Amino acid sequence: MVARLQTAEGRAALAAADEALDRGDPLAAAQAVRTATSDPDLAAAALTQATLRRRAVGKFGADAGRLLYTRTGLEQATRAVVADRRAARLADAGVRTVADLGCGIGADTLAFARAGLTVRAVEADPVTAAVASANVAACGLDHMVSVTCADATATDLSGIDAVFCDPARREASGRRVVNPAAFSPPWSFLRQLPARVPATVLKLTPGIDHALIPEGAEAEWVSVDGDVVEATFWHGPLAAVPRRATVITGTAAHSLTGSGVATAPVAGVRRYLYDPDGAVVRAHLVAEFASTVDGCLADARIAYVFADAPVATPFGTALEVVAQLPYGLKALRSALRAHGIGALEIRKRGVAVEPDRLRRELRLSGDESATLVLTRLGARPTALLCRRVAAGSG
Ligand SMILES: C[S@@+](CC[C@H](N)C(=O)[O-])C[C@H]1O[C@@H](n2cnc3c(N)ncnc32)[C@H](O)[C@@H]1O
Repeated sequence: MVARLQTAEGRAALAAADEALDRGDPLAAAQAVRTATSDPDLAAAALTQATLRRRAVGKFGADAGRLLYTRTGLEQATRAVVADRRAARLADAGVRTVADLGCGIGADTLAFARAGLTVRAVEADPVTAAVASANVAACGLDHMVSVTCADATATDLSGIDAVFCDPARREASGRRVVNPAAFSPPWSFLRQLPARVPATVLKLTPGIDHALIPEGAEAEWVSVDGDVVEATFWHGPLAAVPRRATVITGTAAHSLTGSGVATAPVAGVRRYLYDPDGAVVRAHLVAEFASTVDGCLADARIAYVFADAPVATPFGTALEVVAQLPYGLKALRSALRAHGIGALEIRKRGVAVEPDRLRRELRLSGDESATLVLTRLGARPTALLCRRVAAGSG
């Protein structure tokens, strides 16, 4: 069907569906594809592609409208902003050829090729491999990329400068796989790659166990607009530091680096509270972050950082602590009423609370908005009423 979508008839059907969906008219889209083709399977495929293209805009931006997808391929694809940064780092390191083992629909492959790298892309699933080939062609990158439908574990890596692998981490049912032995290709294959090609890059789940970080490798955690999207292990000559947290907001990216084993000073609650970005926490760089805001922890095991002054930082959300409230539903309810708070953001670390349920149970009313931070100081659960520090403060 991928080949049929690339024929004149397939392109016409897809263009008709695209055009109708652009007008926000799904019923017209179904009609339009049937006018463009009499083949019901091609019509259905064109409609599916047009729908997936709209879903893909967040990941692929302007490219979304020229690419083809599989549903799982789109779900697993790397966001362009992340893939482009990875590709640029490889190009800056002098890499000229890269093998993309398990290339999916080709998000990383496209980024590598655009960064000037020659790509040997391998994909086991025939339909996904055909989609990757179509996407390479649609972006005019055929001269940079070969896509082969094959098992990555049997791929010849001779003459390759670098290897990239983003293993599949979902079961057929769509459920996420957490056990690295069940990744595809599996961990037993991935961990051997740096011995074959030292410049190996692995894209992994953000929850990957730190015990799996090889000696001498760099482990990076990446967040996009507050969501931690991946961990990346950089091996051999590509490793620059032990740990890195990269925080991407819009098109701006900031990196915090460190050892991953430093500990932050512990003192009491102070006037400003920083909630570090998830990438900072996952990378075990809270101590490094605390030093950037001259801060400390209030509990050694909880990643809220407290400081005396507001500092503008891309690595966390800054809040001003307005009051310590009594911990307990009734007491909180009346304290929040007294402060006139009708809109409440709830953040929590170290306490078992369901924020949405608590918000309902608090029966808020009032014109003010605030942030409630629920945490623990030693064994003592603690509620801190906070307000956002205005951007540009500090
Ligand atoms: C997470 S996806 C890759 C996504 C890709 N990096 C992107 O951004 O578009 C993993 C892919 O690896 C493929 N795969 C899994 N095991 C493989 C193997 N042994 N050989 C080749 N491909 C494999 C899966 O079919 C899937 O398409």
